[in-house]
Amino acid sequence: YDTRTPPSHTSDKTSFGFVSARDRWPVIITGAIDDVHRATSKETIPEKQEEGKRITQGLATLKYELQHNRQMMPLPDDGGPDIAGYNHELEQRGNPNWFNVSWLFSECYLYRRVHTLFSLSKHWKGYDVFSKQKMSTFRSSRPAVLELAARYNDLTRQLQLNDSSASEEECEKAEELLFTEMCEICLWGNATDLSLLTNLTYDDIQKLQGSESRKANEKNIVVNDLPAAFAAVKRVQKSGKQERRVDIVLDNAGFELFVDLVLTGYLLQSGLATQIVLHPKNMPWFVSDVVPKDFSDLLNVLVSAKSFYETPSEDDQSNGTTPKPLSDKEDEAMKQLFSNWSSLYASGKILLRPNVFWTEAGSYWRMLYTAPSLFSDLHQSELVIHKGDLNYRKLTGDAMWDPTTPFTEAIGPLGPGSGMRTLALRTCKADVVVGLPAGEDERLRDGDESGCRKWAWSGKYAVVSFCDGKA
Ligand code: F6P
Ligand code: MG
Repeated sequence: YDTRTPPSHTSDKTSFGFVSARDRWPVIITGAIDDVHRATSKETIPEKQEEGKRITQGLATLKYELQHNRQMMPLPDDGGPDIAGYNHELEQRGNPNWFNVSWLFSECYLYRRVHTLFSLSKHWKGYDVFSKQKMSTFRSSRPAVLELAARYNDLTRQLQLNDSSASEEECEKAEELLFTEMCEICLWGNATDLSLLTNLTYDDIQKLQGSESRKANEKNIVVNDLPAAFAAVKRVQKSGKQERRVDIVLDNAGFELFVDLVLTGYLLQSGLATQIVLHPKNMPWFVSDVVPKDFSDLLNVLVSAKSFYETPSEDDQSNGTTPKPLSDKEDEAMKQLFSNWSSLYASGKILLRPNVFWTEAGSYWRMLYTAPSLFSDLHQSELVIHKGDLNYRKLTGDAMWDPTTPFTEAIGPLGPGSGMRTLALRTCKADVVVGLPAGEDERLRDGDESGCRKWAWSGKYAVVSFCDGKA
């Protein structure tokens, strides 16, 4: 079912896959070891302590196998419906070694394997080894969160008043501008995922989040199909169709989930959509991806923002610093946001719908064959928004496409005639990129002769690609 274009491979020393496997994954596993070690040392139940130690050993073994380029071992059966598929694919791939395997497959395997260590335990089943990291990065995005909360509440008031005397055309123009702004906020929120934190500092992250930086970064959106996406949802709204569902295949928790909810609320309140279905992962994934609990954690932060932001973090404690208090106005803005989002959720306009497919190792080229019910469910949607880099890699099969290949071709069975409208909002953090004008890749490589597409690795550039599969 996969594309015949060869996939990005960990054996390719010019690829970000190779750099990831060599430099980034060991750091990520070490972070997980530290986390479990700390949690274990605080435990009082002896059996749970023992299990915690076994889990850290399991993580250390995984790190050893990776760093010594051992064969990738079959996954132990933790009862998950996806295990057989992973192991079958390992076999089909000839039981590869870590540095001679498709990047996408091996990276998914890595997180699935980590998950088995917890799911096979008695006391650590629901434990999210990345949760603390997710929360602490969310805390560090405070300035942007407060700025956006105020902006969102203003917008909500304006949309509710709706007292404009402007013409229909003027209104539509204004709506398109807002749609673009909301989607761009949502796009750049993706630059802050934790698996890249090994390169980015907290300072870098804060710079990426404010409204000024968003404007300055518009020139870095190297493909921008937002006008076509807006036109499609607007057409549906004008057609008088009563139910207008939009889906968001989520990526990261924390700040990115926050901005996804900003977009969600905007789409509902503007009438561009009547229902939003959010697709989280059902296990901790690629460090910072959203699991259902991240959603409730985020709402809890909003409702008790003062205590969240004013309680000294571990960093504050070790640096002897005290967090700046939240003003009453800021606290009020967060509470308003909470009440707005929770009432949209309570009225069934926002739904969470996990599916095992999102944490399988295959690309979305396989959806029609391996997840036919999900495929047909997504047909009910007017627009399926895929957030982030991993979703983009899966849409395009993480293949080494010529960068001028049209997006509509690179997404294979999800392309024209699929019955699905796809919009990818992705900051580039991998090698694959499609839909570029001729010569653009060369320009962005800027004479770099390493053979690496380094411009596409750091989240500095973005692509917004759309395909109207219902046309
Ligand atoms: O390239 C860095 C990386 O960890 C990739 O391995 C992965 O595709 C991506 O980042 C995860 O990013 P995102 O959270 O945007 O999907
Ligand atoms: Mg992610």
